[in-house]
Amino acid sequence: MLARKREAEPLAAGGVSDLEERLRELQAAGLHRRLRTVEGPQGPRIVLDGRPVLLLCSDDYLGLAADGRVRDGAARAALRWGAGAGASRLVSGTMALHGELERRLAAFKGTEAALLFGSGYLANLGVVGALAGRDGVVLSDELNHASIVDGCRLSRAEVVVFRHRDVEHLGWELARRRGRQALVVTDSVFSMDGDVAPLAELVEVARRHGARLAVDDAHGTGCVGPGGRGAVHAAGVQDEVDVVVGTLGKALGAYGAFAACSGVVARYLMNTARSLIFSTALPPPVAGAALAALELLVEEPERVVRLQANARVLRDALAHEGFAAPDSATQIVPLVAGHPERASRMCELALEEGVFAQAIHPPIVPRGTSRLRLSVMATHDAGELREAARVLGRAARRAGVPLPAAEPPAAGSASVAGEPPGAGSPPAAPPPPAARAA
Ligand SMILES: Cc1ncc(COP(=O)(O)O)c(C=O)c1O
Repeated sequence: MLARKREAEPLAAGGVSDLEERLRELQAAGLHRRLRTVEGPQGPRIVLDGRPVLLLCSDDYLGLAADGRVRDGAARAALRWGAGAGASRLVSGTMALHGELERRLAAFKGTEAALLFGSGYLANLGVVGALAGRDGVVLSDELNHASIVDGCRLSRAEVVVFRHRDVEHLGWELARRRGRQALVVTDSVFSMDGDVAPLAELVEVARRHGARLAVDDAHGTGCVGPGGRGAVHAAGVQDEVDVVVGTLGKALGAYGAFAACSGVVARYLMNTARSLIFSTALPPPVAGAALAALELLVEEPERVVRLQANARVLRDALAHEGFAAPDSATQIVPLVAGHPERASRMCELALEEGVFAQAIHPPIVPRGTSRLRLSVMATHDAGELREAARVLGRAARRAGVPLPAAEPPAAGSASVAGEPPGAGSPPAAPPPPAARAA
């Protein structure tokens, strides 16, 4: 994050603006980003900035974004319905195609209804904002995705951040607010760590305290649970969660998102979720692509099995290289490097050997935990994942990233490379925690 806040200034003498100065600060902190260009469709192998690489950081987990049937679904919808929806859902933007996709999504998730949103970001803004209530309280896991954090901020409700996956802490905060309208919100599969929320326990605590529960299943949908139905199904609590948000832009290879919920909640969201009311409906080609992808997922659940098997292959190969084995089995595998420069160096070194896994820095992840966030695809093959692990092992060693399983750190040393112990991580013992803004 930037060191300090500044007043907006006009161009200073010599033509250097406050914005350029802030960009230099980001550069000095190793946090400056640039865009890399992919030449062609998503796939296990792509051409990146002119160089062929193995892609190990796409959320197109099932390889559907470039699938022929999905492309065909998009093309047919474009020809039949046009390029754009023309208006918001509540004005003239709702087409029969949207209704059909919503019915299929509801059937897939086993809910009464599903409501489309323009993206996962917009879905979380809308769902959290609408269900939190201005006088209510929303309780959010500290590692929730930024779209949930922003939904909390926009809701104008009281926001309480509970420790990551800490159900006891959540219960403690809920008990302190007895009698208030409360919404608990969590990622299912956490986007940067790949670990999974304790959904059954969250359901139990939320029910005990009369709170609603919303789960963002962006990285669970299509990836975990029976037939890829998601982490909520995997936990067996699909009938107990008030709203499940799923995205269409990750495992389903298209774009957009949906809230799967009861008919009443869907009607409530349609009438109150500002990101739905004030935004143009999903473009028909995107809805057509999502419909085709959903059909493929239902017809070919073996894609999900392949994804899960590939996740195991990569995790085992990384453990063989000495990387710490993260405590989960999903398709998202974080390799925490610590200091931003070290993560970026590791990324560049791996790229030189033809493996692309983008370095992720604060504010996307907590300070001191810059990392390569690897994501597996069902379309990778086991051989290339094992070779990628060897490349990443070499890159980590050359970048000076300690490999904990290969050489255990000395007692009392920092848990994260290049940072003092505890930097960027939550305190271990839970003293009564104070509410803070997300
Ligand atoms: C957990 C989570 N929720 C929501 C989103 C936003 O989804 P979308 O990309 O469709 O806006 C993301 C995107 O990365 C995510 O990781």
